[in-house]
Amino acid sequence: MSRRRYSYLQAVVDLAAFQLVIWAIIFLRSPLTALHGRTVMAALFPTMIALVMVGLLAAFRQYRLRPRDRFWRQFTAAFNVVTLGFLIVVIIGVDLGVIPTLERGLLLFLLLGLVAATAASRVVTYLWLGRRPDFSFKEPVILKSANGHKNGDGSPLILPDSLTVEEIKRAIEGSPYDFAVIIDGGGYYVGTVNDGDIIEADLKPGNEPFPLAQLIDRTHPVADENLSAGRMRQIMIDRNLRFLPLLSGEGKPRRVILLSDLDAKYHDTLQARQSDRVLVIGGAGYIGSVLTRYLLMRGYQVSVLDNLMCGYDALRELDNHPAYRFYRGDARNVQDLLTAIVDVDSVIHLAAIVGDPACALDPRTTIDINYEASKVLVDTCLYKKVNRLLFASSCSVYGASKNGELLTEESPLNPVSLYAETRLRSEEAILNQAAPPLAVTMFRLATVFGFSYRPRFDLVVNLLTARALYDGEISIFGGSQWRPNVHVRDVVTGFVAGLEAPRGVVDRQIFNLGSERENYRISQLGEMVARAVPGTSIKTVDAEIDRRDYRVAFDKIEKALSWKAQVSVPQGIQEIVDAYHQGKFGHYSEKRYSNVKLLQNA
Ligand SMILES: NC(=O)c1ccc[n+]([C@@H]2O[C@H](COP(=O)([O-])OP(=O)(O)OC[C@H]3O[C@@H](n4cnc5c(N)ncnc54)[C@H](O)[C@@H]3O)[C@@H](O)[C@H]2O)c1
Repeated sequence: MSRRRYSYLQAVVDLAAFQLVIWAIIFLRSPLTALHGRTVMAALFPTMIALVMVGLLAAFRQYRLRPRDRFWRQFTAAFNVVTLGFLIVVIIGVDLGVIPTLERGLLLFLLLGLVAATAASRVVTYLWLGRRPDFSFKEPVILKSANGHKNGDGSPLILPDSLTVEEIKRAIEGSPYDFAVIIDGGGYYVGTVNDGDIIEADLKPGNEPFPLAQLIDRTHPVADENLSAGRMRQIMIDRNLRFLPLLSGEGKPRRVILLSDLDAKYHDTLQARQSDRVLVIGGAGYIGSVLTRYLLMRGYQVSVLDNLMCGYDALRELDNHPAYRFYRGDARNVQDLLTAIVDVDSVIHLAAIVGDPACALDPRTTIDINYEASKVLVDTCLYKKVNRLLFASSCSVYGASKNGELLTEESPLNPVSLYAETRLRSEEAILNQAAPPLAVTMFRLATVFGFSYRPRFDLVVNLLTARALYDGEISIFGGSQWRPNVHVRDVVTGFVAGLEAPRGVVDRQIFNLGSERENYRISQLGEMVARAVPGTSIKTVDAEIDRRDYRVAFDKIEKALSWKAQVSVPQGIQEIVDAYHQGKFGHYSEKRYSNVKLLQNA
């Protein structure tokens, strides 16, 4: 499967192997002739030789051919075929009595054999190995990621070896892939570089730039374009490869096959799914009730699994929807999961005890629901051959940023509460346990705001707005802490963008979900609320009761999923003000609007 460069040494080895086989057959010929008679052997012998020839020529094809290799390969092939042709002709001639004596015929047939065999060899090697190296795909693979995320030439990164390590690193960072295929000046495959190699180079001591040549993995397996998709997938699984460069017969990379794409194809073929059914676990909650409606609106079939900790009111009106199924059950319970996962392609996991105070009430239960259940869920998804799992994590895993610097998905993690800790541990568990065909994606949500079918007034923007409306006064504790914010509808469209993105783009990825523009200090949020609700007085309390303080970058999701948050904090505040005037919710202090109060009274 893997193609190596055709070297001089290889030419010698091929030559020796070929000659060995020929002479072995010749030696075998006498006993065989004695057994079967001359006429039979006259027919059998050329057939045996022809089979050997085909086998050896097929073996040649495993080598990469560059123009300067071609001469050596054709020379070797010609030499072998000349020997072969000569022997065949002479032996058949003697066997059939056409050549009266070996001595008399020798010269004549040596001459004839040389001419004929050399000509044949040139024709065969030229036609088979030279001019027509590109065998078409037996089973074409539709490369969603390659088509969907064009990188100049419409494929994953194929970069020249003239670039520096720094340039390769930037190109990889700027692409949805974590590797690049390296080619030489003539466009021939040299090897691969992945982000791990680059990290290793970065860690090497010394100020000298690290030479690219030392970084390139020249042993990464490559494949012929004529390999079937099923075989490619098997090879990648067996060899633990995430991608496989496909080379033309000449040795130039044509495209790169991603395991995740093959998995998607394989899975689709095997399962022959009737439609896309998404299971939303925790679908009766603040985010889930909006997400469920949005998925139904987009034509998905939706199942919801929820233990109804916050009641069923948010979903009741969907009861008669033909594409909607509801399962009352617990995310910790395997039986409940197995029941709800029937016919499901993708799972979005929202069920949790949400918020620091709610989680602190009963740490053991919090750990069970927020962390242990995530592990059970991955196993269940793997067992039921679910395609995708999207997990709702939180930006609170960052804890605090130094001097208000923007935090990216690669920034250090510093969860400062049990809630944040369980989000982080769940991410790690899901990423560790996941295996094809399950593609997993983590979304680290900013703090959510806005009105929902299950309103929550224990979230900062919502609570400040409700207090301003009901009490005419808001208290800001500390106020200098940064907090990223995202509207609940944007969370929902972000999840669906992830669900619909090519697998290669989202598999095993972590995305901050929000908008850089909506990073605000708590005091700024207070000012915005006061502007939207005239007459609000702001009381600043010196104590900082919340240690979370972080500003977050969202470039990755915007670029990879072509997604952008649409709703600003002032718009979300206005939405709650309007809902209040329309009588859409009761007093903010009612227990149904607060997770901690719901659990305290459970
Ligand atoms: N709202 C935010 O600001 C925010 C921010 C970051 C991350 N998140 C994440 O988003 C997800 C959803 O948050 P939300 O705001 O919609 O919360 P929510 O409390 O409104 O919804 C959670 C839902 O999960 C259900 N649930 C809880 N335990 C369950 C269990 N054991 N089995 C089945 N169902 C169970 C609840 O009944 C509820 O319907 C959570 O995973 C949370 O960590 C939310």
